Amino acid sequence: MNPTLRKPLIAGNWKMYKTVREAVETARELVQFTAAVNVDVMIAPPFTALAPVADVVKGTSIALGAQNLFWKNEGAYTGEISPVMLSDIGCQYAIIGHSERRQYFGDTDESVNAKIRAALEHQLIPVFCVGETETQREAKETFSVLDKQVTKGLEGFSSESLSRLLVIAYEPVWAIGTGKTATTDQVQEVHAFLRSLVEKRFDNLLAKSVRILYGGSVKPDNVTEIMNMPDVDGALVGGASLSAKVFNSIIHFHH
Ligand code: PGA
Repeated sequence: MNPTLRKPLIAGNWKMYKTVREAVETARELVQFTAAVNVDVMIAPPFTALAPVADVVKGTSIALGAQNLFWKNEGAYTGEISPVMLSDIGCQYAIIGHSERRQYFGDTDESVNAKIRAALEHQLIPVFCVGETETQREAKETFSVLDKQVTKGLEGFSSESLSRLLVIAYEPVWAIGTGKTATTDQVQEVHAFLRSLVEKRFDNLLAKSVRILYGGSVKPDNVTEIMNMPDVDGALVGGASLSAKVFNSIIHFHH
């Protein structure tokens, strides 16, 4: 992590967990814990809880994120949520292209690209997720898979349109929800690769400022060593973000 260039971001992805009451309760607890925090904190509750949680975190150091969005502003798209609706309730971030969406809901590099564009147009910070599966890692395809995801996901954007906004989350699919974390060497190797890829596709300025988060079984007892890697700028936390106490100890990692 290089805090002079990049403020760490610890993001909680609540996935399809919590009723409105449970989400509001967890958010309230978290607000009390994080009054004086020196990293950026974001939580992404399910859509039904976004507006009520927005009221709880308003004016606090916790930012609100969506777990997905559709790229149109409005229209006959049953079941979808637009970036306009998300901005309207105070969302600042949107997780885009999470591997669960790619795996179960048909997100592709092309739709991910359209979603990132829509997020940027509405001043939502995209948390753009990439990662290889276990089979791809074993076949030594990790770097080519990531190259394709990043290149296609960010196709057509200028460095200026992404600067100070883009967040990339490296989430090896085999480490999500499995309790298996990548080793710090594996994490650093991929993060350095992703940063150099951003430099190759865009420029040095964007490469230096883009925040690259690690995600996949991040817990209080492994967050510090992961965050100490030079190219890790934060964490995208699933399971361990559901409890305010546990997530709080991740937010207060030692650095
Ligand atoms: P996990 O999920 O922390 O439960 O592994 C991470 C994620 O999917 O963002």
